[in-house]
Amino acid sequence: MKALRCCAVVALLNLVSGSDFSERSSVAHLSLAKDLKLRDARRKRSMPTSPEFSVGTADPGGDSCGALREYDATLNSSTHPYVFRDLSGSVSLAWVGDGTGVILALTTYQVPIFMLRFGQSKLYRSTNYGKFFDDVTNLINNTFIRSEFGIAVGPENSGKVILTADVPGSQDISRIFLSRDFGNSFTSNNLSFEPVTQISYNPSDSEALLAVSSTHDLWLSEDFGKNWRNIHHSVCLVKWGRNGAIFFTTSLNRSCSDRGMLELRGTTDYGKTFKTLGTKIYSFGVGGRFLFASVMADSDTLRVIHVSLDQGDTWNIAQLPAVGHEQFYSILAASDDMVFMHVDEPGDSGFGTIYVSDDRGVVYSTSLERHLYSTTGGDTDFTNITSLRGVFMTTVLAEDGSLQTVVTFDQGGEWRPLQKPAEGGCDAPLQSQEQCTFHIHASYSISAKLNVPMLPLTEPNAVGLILAHGSMGDALSVMEPDVYVSDDGGYSWQLALKGPHHYAILDSGGLLVAVEHTPSQTIQQIKFSTDEGQCWHVYNFTKEPIYFSGLASEPGARSMNVSLWGYRENLFSQFWVSITIDFKELLSRDCVDDDYVEWLAHSDDISDPNDGCMLGYKEKFLRLRKDSVCLNGRDYMINKQPSPCQCTLDDFLCDFGYYRVENSSECVEQPDLQGKVLEFCLQGKMEQLQTKGYRKIPGDKCEGGAAPERSVIDLSSRCVSNILVTEKQTNTSTSSTALIILVVICTLLISVAAGVLFIKRYVCGGRFLVHRYSVLQQHADANGIETADALDTCAVSSNRRQYHDDSDEVLTHKHKAHN
Ligand SMILES: *[C@@H]1O[C@H](CO)[C@@H](O)[C@H](O)[C@H]1NC(C)=O
Ligand SMILES: *[C@@H]1O[C@H](CO)[C@@H](O)[C@H](O)[C@H]1NC(C)=O
Ligand SMILES: *[C@@H]1O[C@H](CO)[C@@H](O)[C@H](O)[C@H]1NC(C)=O
Ligand SMILES: *[C@@H]1O[C@H](CO)[C@@H](O)[C@H](O)[C@H]1NC(C)=O
Ligand SMILES: *[C@@H]1O[C@H](CO)[C@@H](O)[C@H](O)[C@H]1NC(C)=O
Ligand SMILES: *[C@@H]1O[C@H](CO)[C@@H](O)[C@H](O)[C@H]1NC(C)=O
Ligand SMILES: *[C@@H]1O[C@H](CO)[C@@H](O)[C@H](O)[C@H]1NC(C)=O
Ligand SMILES: *[C@@H]1O[C@H](CO)[C@@H](O)[C@H](O)[C@H]1NC(C)=O
Repeated sequence: MKALRCCAVVALLNLVSGSDFSERSSVAHLSLAKDLKLRDARRKRSMPTSPEFSVGTADPGGDSCGALREYDATLNSSTHPYVFRDLSGSVSLAWVGDGTGVILALTTYQVPIFMLRFGQSKLYRSTNYGKFFDDVTNLINNTFIRSEFGIAVGPENSGKVILTADVPGSQDISRIFLSRDFGNSFTSNNLSFEPVTQISYNPSDSEALLAVSSTHDLWLSEDFGKNWRNIHHSVCLVKWGRNGAIFFTTSLNRSCSDRGMLELRGTTDYGKTFKTLGTKIYSFGVGGRFLFASVMADSDTLRVIHVSLDQGDTWNIAQLPAVGHEQFYSILAASDDMVFMHVDEPGDSGFGTIYVSDDRGVVYSTSLERHLYSTTGGDTDFTNITSLRGVFMTTVLAEDGSLQTVVTFDQGGEWRPLQKPAEGGCDAPLQSQEQCTFHIHASYSISAKLNVPMLPLTEPNAVGLILAHGSMGDALSVMEPDVYVSDDGGYSWQLALKGPHHYAILDSGGLLVAVEHTPSQTIQQIKFSTDEGQCWHVYNFTKEPIYFSGLASEPGARSMNVSLWGYRENLFSQFWVSITIDFKELLSRDCVDDDYVEWLAHSDDISDPNDGCMLGYKEKFLRLRKDSVCLNGRDYMINKQPSPCQCTLDDFLCDFGYYRVENSSECVEQPDLQGKVLEFCLQGKMEQLQTKGYRKIPGDKCEGGAAPERSVIDLSSRCVSNILVTEKQTNTSTSSTALIILVVICTLLISVAAGVLFIKRYVCGGRFLVHRYSVLQQHADANGIETADALDTCAVSSNRRQYHDDSDEVLTHKHKAHN
C-alpha cells in the first residue's frame, strides 16, 4: 500500500498490436510508477501568475492572447468529473473504434504473495469520451484480467476487444473474454493453453488471431477466438505479414535461446502448409513491404541481413556490415519505399550507424554516424516527425561524449543540429555563445530518468506541428527541460512552457492542452492554446486538486474531449478520478475559408520556384491562421496541393562504386573501381550495372531535369543469394570485375575490425561519405588489401566457403516500433 503513495507518473505507452509497424494504436496505459525521482535542482519558475500569459516571441499578427475571454464559465459547464470507487494500482485505457466515444478502463490491483498472485480487476466503460463510466465488471464475471496484456483492440473499426484472464490454480489453461460490439457485451472462452504474449490480430482480417503458448506452441483461431488450432510447435517469435501471411522462427531444440540456429518458416494459408524460408536464423523482422532476416554467416560469430520483397520466396543479401553476437540491427522506421536501419558498433559503445536503403532494401547509404542507441536501455531517440514529410529527429553521441540532437529534412540525406530558438540562452556560462545549442529530450532522457514526462509529439493531421521537451546548452543537459513548439516541422523552435509538462494535440492542431508535471504535488490547472502554442490560457478544472497521472485523448488528434487522469487521497485510501473537458463550446464556431492561410512546406521563400522541393515535389498546405479561434472538426481533411519539381542531381543517390564530394551534388567514381564492370547478385541472377553513378532516391517524384543514365544488364548466370539455396557457384569472376557482395563478405572475413569500415566504400551516397572515405583508405592500406586483384582472389575463396552446404546464416534483429 505504501508503494501506491509515491509520486504518480504516467506511462502513456502505445501498445502496438501485431507486427512492428502496424496500424495506429488505440491503447493507452496509465499506471502508477514507484521510483521516478526528480533529478537536479529545479529551476525557479518564472511563470506569470495572471491567468493569461504569453511566452516566446510576440505574435506579429496581433494580440491573439486577447482573442479568448471569459472562458471560465463556458469551460466549467463542459467539465465532467468522474470518481472511481476503486483503489487499484494501475489503469489501462483503450479507445474502441474511431469516433465512437467508447473507452474501456481496466483497473487492476495485484498483491504478489510468494509465488501466487492474488489480484482483482474491474472494468469500466464509457460511451461519451470519458464523461461518464459504467462499472461493467459483471460482464467479465469478476475474473482477474492480466494487466500486462492489457486490452487488445481489433484493427480498423472492427469493434473487437479481447481480455486475457488469469485462471487461478491452473497452469495450462486460461480464459479469454471476447467482444464484437465495442465492449458492450462479452463472451468467454476457455483456452487449453496459456498465452505468453498478447493475442494478436491479423491486421487485414480481425477474425484471425494468433497466440504463442507457454510451451512454445503456436495457436491460431479463424473465428475470433472460438476455436483454436495448434498449428506449430517450438515457436519462438511470430509476426503477421501482409495478406494474412504468418512468419515465425522455430527452434529444432525447443530452445529459443539457441539464436543463430533457428529456422524461419512461413504460411500463407493459416497453417495448412508451411514453407521453410531460411535456416541459421538469428532473428527476423517485418518493416514496410520488406521482410528482413539476420542469418549466421560462415564464421558462426557474425551475422548478416537478408531481405525479401516477396514474403520470403527469394532473398538478397543487404549490403550492410555484418555484426557479432554483442551487436544488433534495428529497423528504426520503414515505409513502402525504404527503411532506416541502425547497425550497432562493436563493443559496448552505445552508438552505431544509420543506413538508409534503396527501394529494394539491398543497397544502403550511410546516413548518420555515432547514432545513439544504448544497448542497456534499448533506447533510441529516433523519431519520425509525422507532421511533415521527410523529417526525422534523433540524437548523436559526439566524440566528447556529449549528446546532440540532429534533424534531417530530406529523409536521412543530410543531418544537422537544431536551430536555436530566437529567445532564451544558455544558463551555464559557456566559452562562447556558439556552443550554446538547442536539444530535444526523447526516449533516452526518459530511460535515464530525467524529469521528462513525455516524448516529442506530432500528428499527421496537425501539419508542421511538433511539441517536445528541450533544453539549451552545449549538449543535452540534465537540467529541468522546458516545452518547446515548432510550427514548421522542426526548422524553427519557440519556448512554449517553462518546466516539464504533459501535452496533447486536439482538433487536428487547432487546440493544444498541457498540464504541469509535478509528481509530488497536487494540481488543479490545465493550460490550453488555440494558436499553436504561442499564447497559453489557464483554466482551473477543479476545486479539489488531484495528483495528476496523465492526459488521455482519443488517438488521431481529432477529438475535442480530453481527460485528465489522476487520484485523490484521503486518510484511508486513494481513488482514481478522471476529469473530462469538452472544448467544443470554447471554439464555438466552425472554421471557414478565411480562417486558413497558404503555407509552403520546407520553404522560407514561397516566390522561389525551386524552394520547398523535397523528394521531387513540393506541397502547399492550407493551415489554420494562428489568430483564428474556430473548430476544424472531426471531418477536417488536410488540404494540400502537391506539385512536381524538376530533377536535380540532389534527387539521386550515388550508385555502386561512386561517392559524393563534400558540398557537391556530383557523384564521383571511386578511383580503385574505375574502368571496372560492376556485377551484383540480385534475385539469384547476376546482373551487370552500367551507370553514370546516380540512382533515384526511393520515393522521389521529380520530373524532367537531370536524367543520368543507368541500366542493368542481365548476365543470366546464376549466383547465390537465397538463404536456403546451396548451389555452388560454377564460375568465378575474372580479375577485371568486382563482385560487390562477395567482396564485402570477404573483407569482413579478412579483418573484422577493418571490415565494418570497408563496407562503406560500396555503400555510397551519404553526404558524410567523402570525409570517411579517406579514413577508409588509410585502413585499407594498413591492412594491405587494396587492389582489386586482392579482393577478387578473396571473393573466390570466400564464395566457396560461404555457399558450401546448408550454409550458415545468422541474423540479428532488434525492433522498435515507433508510433
Ligand atoms: C458469467 O457467469 C454466468 C454464470 O456462471 C454465465 O452464464 C455467463 O456466461 C458468464 N459470462 C461470461 C462472459 O463468461
Ligand atoms: C471454462 O472452465 C470453467 C472451469 O474452469 C468452467 O466453469 C466454465 O464453464 C468453462 N467455460 C466454457 C465456456 O467452457
Ligand atoms: C541441440 O542441442 C544439442 C545440445 O543440447 C546441440 O548439440 C545441437 O547442436 C542442437 N541442435 C540444433 C539443431 O540446434
Ligand atoms: C513517417 O511517418 C509518416 C506519417 O505517418 C509515414 O507516412 C511514413 O511512412 C513514415 N516514414 C517512415 C520511414 O517510417
Ligand atoms: C486556480 O488555481 C490556482 C493555483 O492552483 C489558485 O492559486 C487560484 O486561486 C485558482 N483560481 C480560482 C479562481 O480558483
Ligand atoms: C462550476 O460552477 C459550479 C457552480 O457555479 C461550481 O459549483 C463548480 O464547482 C464549478 N466547477 C469548477 C470545476 O470550478
Ligand atoms: C466530445 O464528446 C461528446 C460526447 O460527450 C461527443 O458528442 C463529441 O462528438 C466529442 N467531440 C469530439 C470532437 O470528439
Ligand atoms: C563544406 O561546407 C561547409 C559549410 O558550408 C564548410 O564548413 C566546409 O569547409 C565545406 N567543405 C569543403 C570541402 O568545401
